[in-house]
Formats: sequence, structure tokens, C-alpha cells
Amino acid sequence: MLEIKNLHAQIAEDGTEIIRGLNLKVEQGEVAAIMGPNGSGKSTLSYILAGREDYEVTSGDILFNGESILEMDPAERAASGVFLAFQYPVEIPGVPTMTFLKTAMNAQRKARGEDELATPDFIKLVKEAAGKLSINMEMLKRPLNVGFSGGEKKRAEILQMALLSPELCVLDETDSGLDIDALKIVSDGVNALREQNRSFLVITHYQRLLEHIVPDSVHVLYKGQIIQSGDKSLALELEANGYAEIIGKAA
Ligand SMILES: Nc1ncnc2c1ncn2[C@@H]1O[C@H](COP(=O)(O)OP(=O)(O)OP(=O)(O)O)[C@@H](O)[C@H]1O
Ligand SMILES: [Mg+2]
Repeated sequence: MLEIKNLHAQIAEDGTEIIRGLNLKVEQGEVAAIMGPNGSGKSTLSYILAGREDYEVTSGDILFNGESILEMDPAERAASGVFLAFQYPVEIPGVPTMTFLKTAMNAQRKARGEDELATPDFIKLVKEAAGKLSINMEMLKRPLNVGFSGGEKKRAEILQMALLSPELCVLDETDSGLDIDALKIVSDGVNALREQNRSFLVITHYQRLLEHIVPDSVHVLYKGQIIQSGDKSLALELEANGYAEIIGKAA
């Protein structure tokens, strides 16, 4: 489903290489966790998957369902089923969240050759999905993310994900800033979306999230490369011992 092959990528503006020969394979239905020290390139990888123009792929490839997505712009990637929940969700002043959601859903439907959603159907879908995430409908009348608390922003990200039903979900530190109850709600929301033909890349610093969203594989990203892969026990090992040993072995 997702295959990243010997990927090298740099910051477009100044040519600093951030991703340095990264290899990763995520199967259909797999939940892969990405861990790694601050600054190792995790968010950069998520931006590159989403197609952000601030980064330039210099070599290697990203295959999604067997086809390279490197030439696709962010909208095409979204339409083909790639979704990114940001570490720092962007605020969109002036655009009510409901309007944003409707526009996003209809853009995706259009790209797939489907009809626009009728307003009552749209509202029904949003109410259902928001209810599961304990999101108050009043909040959705406000401009997207503007003045939302940290946890509300993360929930709004998962709401978008639920409504767009992507094939590949990249979650960048969705657990950061969540209170204990919200962590459970968001994790349950993610788990409810787990299915055979949907894959997840879950970027996190903490084993705690992985107790709720149990991963099939765990990968350690360091200096732009995957330096170790394992199953969920790798996350436990990291929690107990930190990164020093694994980094030492890879060096
Ligand atoms: N646009 C940019 N301009 C300058 N430096 C950048 C840019 N984007 C990324 N970097 C640098 O690339 C490195 C990787 O950053 P990235 O945000 O991907 O790390 P991360 O693994 O997500 O870290 P964290 O765990 O703190 O979220 C950092 O050293 C960062 O400063
Ligand atoms: Mg990051």
C-alpha cells in the first residue's frame, strides 16, 4: 500500500537534507508507529507524504498502491486517499469549520467522480462523526481551529479524517496536548476507523498512545533514516531504555 524507497529529501529553500535514505513499507490495514528523537525528521516525512512544497525529494520514490505519488500535488494526493493530521493544526480564520468540512468532502467526492453531498446528508454525517468524538456542534460553527484548545484541534483533525475516510492516515503527534479522557476518545475514534484496506502511520513520542492504538509495527526514525523496526515491544523497550542504545548500535 505504501512503500518508501531510499528516499532523500531536502528543504527546498536552502537545500538542507533532512530525509537521508529512508526505507519503509506499510501494508494494507497495517498500523505502523513512527518514533524517534526530536528533530529526526518525523514531521518532515509527513509533510513530504502530503506533498508540501517546502520540501524537495532529490532521490528515491514513494509508492502508494504501486504508483509513485511524487508528481502529484497535495490536492491530488488527498483525493487519492492520503490524509495528514498535523502536529500543529492550521487555523483558518473566517471559515466556519462546517463550511471547511463540506468543501473538503465535496472536493474529494468531485475528484472521485461522485455527486456533491446534499446539505441534510452532510449534516447527518457530521453529527454522527462528531458525536463519536464528543465534539460539540456549536464548536463546528466557529472558524476552523481558531481559538480551539490544543485538544479540540486534535479532535477536529480526527473528525476530518473520519469524514474523508482516507486509505492512508498519517497522524503526527495526535496525542500531544490531549487530556486523559480526550486521549481515549481520540484513540477510540482512530481504532473505529481501523480496517482491512486502511493503513495508518502514527507518529508519537509515547508508548502511552500505543496502549490505546496498538500498532502492528514500530519504526525508529533517526537523522532521516529508519534505524530499527520491530513490533509493539520495541516501543516498550524505548520507553524503558530511551534511544541511546539503538542509536549507538546504528552508528
Ligand atoms: N522548513 C524548515 N526550515 C529549516 N529547518 C527545518 C525545516 N523543516 C524541518 N527542519 C529541520 O529538520 C529537522 C527535522 O524536523 P522535524 O520537524 O521533521 O522533526 P520531528 O522528528 O518531527 O521532531 P519532533 O519530535 O520535535 O516533532 C529539524 O532539525 C528541523 O529544524
Ligand atoms: Mg514533529
